[in-house]
Amino acid sequence: MRASENSKTQQPSGKTGDNDKTCFIKTYGCQMNVYDSQRMEEALSEAGYRPVAAADEADMVILNPCHIREKAAEKVYSELGRLKPLKQQNKHMVIGVAGCVAQAEGAEIIARAPVVDMVFGPQTFQQLPAMLGEIADARAQGNKPKLVRTEFPASEKFAALQAAPRKPVTRSPSAFVTVQEGCDKFCTFCVVPYTRGEEVSRARADIIAEARALVAQGVCEITLLGQNVNAWAHDGMRLDGLLAQLGEIEGLERLRFTTSHPRDMDAALIAAHGDNEKLMPYLHLPVQSGSDAILKAMNRKHTAADYLALVKKFRAARPDLALSSDFIVGFPGETEEDFAATMALVEEVRYAQAFSFKYSPRPGTPAADAENQVDEAVKAARLKDLQALLNAQQMAFHQAQIGKTLPVLFDKLSKSGDQMSGRSPYLQPVHVPLGDVDAAALRGRILPVEIEAAHANSLSGILSI
Ligand code: 5AD
Ligand code: SF4
Repeated sequence: MRASENSKTQQPSGKTGDNDKTCFIKTYGCQMNVYDSQRMEEALSEAGYRPVAAADEADMVILNPCHIREKAAEKVYSELGRLKPLKQQNKHMVIGVAGCVAQAEGAEIIARAPVVDMVFGPQTFQQLPAMLGEIADARAQGNKPKLVRTEFPASEKFAALQAAPRKPVTRSPSAFVTVQEGCDKFCTFCVVPYTRGEEVSRARADIIAEARALVAQGVCEITLLGQNVNAWAHDGMRLDGLLAQLGEIEGLERLRFTTSHPRDMDAALIAAHGDNEKLMPYLHLPVQSGSDAILKAMNRKHTAADYLALVKKFRAARPDLALSSDFIVGFPGETEEDFAATMALVEEVRYAQAFSFKYSPRPGTPAADAENQVDEAVKAARLKDLQALLNAQQMAFHQAQIGKTLPVLFDKLSKSGDQMSGRSPYLQPVHVPLGDVDAAALRGRILPVEIEAAHANSLSGILSI
């Protein structure tokens, strides 16, 4: 679940009794965090907690912030300040801070915000019910316990995912499955290797079992998640082999994976984009910069030419591949020439979609201590130029779909109730007017849509059945 910023303004739904325990998880950031929040919600539902839409209705509030780009720690402290009066009103309330910020700051959070009862890192959410039990027992004896759990064993987390088959909460036809955790690439701007630990791959049989269970619940698209998903390896198998095995599951129609590192790309995974029919023609392959000097300073261990050569190979395997990337502008020492090299790389690749950010120093990472930091105004101007180019490329990619008939996996009914939306193979949201068609007849099905119009972030068209 992804809680919205204004969700606290919603009205309480009303509790049904003392045994009815409620939880609210506020998630910020990446898909990994959204996935972790879903797993926490499931762990809590096993401990008898029902999810609610706002903190003021909840007995357990968890903040699950992202530490990567945002000034997440500051956001967390101001959010905790807002939770304080709620906790004074509800003596049962338990407040937890999860995720990468918890991992990075640990006990400091409790020292700075005594309203917090527990701090736990991204690898320990399966311990939630036990931690809640500990807190309840200690409170019954008049104590005010404070728990900090930030150990790293990702393998334990994978084991717990396996031990506790997921319950269908609100099952979308498209699901995420974590296959790999952590990163040991140590890009000099990034906190992930410090907060998520070393690279660990989940066992193949466990992934297949989870995928089968999801398909049995109606899922037909699975996105494999990992900080370095293409580094996945188990018993001599690599990601292309895993994708081939998943492709054999009947009812599983679409496969995706994210996020990849150019360094871990191998020929077999490139070939899979041409051979594996279930693998969707979309690849998120972050390059970060187009300047070799900056790539070196970032410790990316590839050049712009290496990246362009990879893109060429992918396009040879799958000519209609939609490419996506992450970019950082204003990395320490970035000159106008370096930035021009990024713009030139973008011109050459032609992206279907991309994420771009101003460099933000993350404490504890090497680049944060560099002396040649770029002025904020310069970063802002470069970001504006880069985004203008990326947006134009995205629009061009959308416009190129007009007149085509694309298979769309339908998922959501619009708020107004008269449109259904889904995703094209290229991950574009596609909206279709419902007319006389019943939404339930479309949800979870892949149907052809004739694309009539392109918008900045989506397409629209009509069902062609
Ligand atoms: N500043 C700006 N962007 C960052 N990213 C990671 N760390 C930073 C940082 N310190 C971006 C990278 C990465 C994406 C997930 O977040 O582009 O690929
Ligand atoms: Fe961070 Fe680099 Fe690892 Fe990606 S590859 S998670 S940017 S250290």
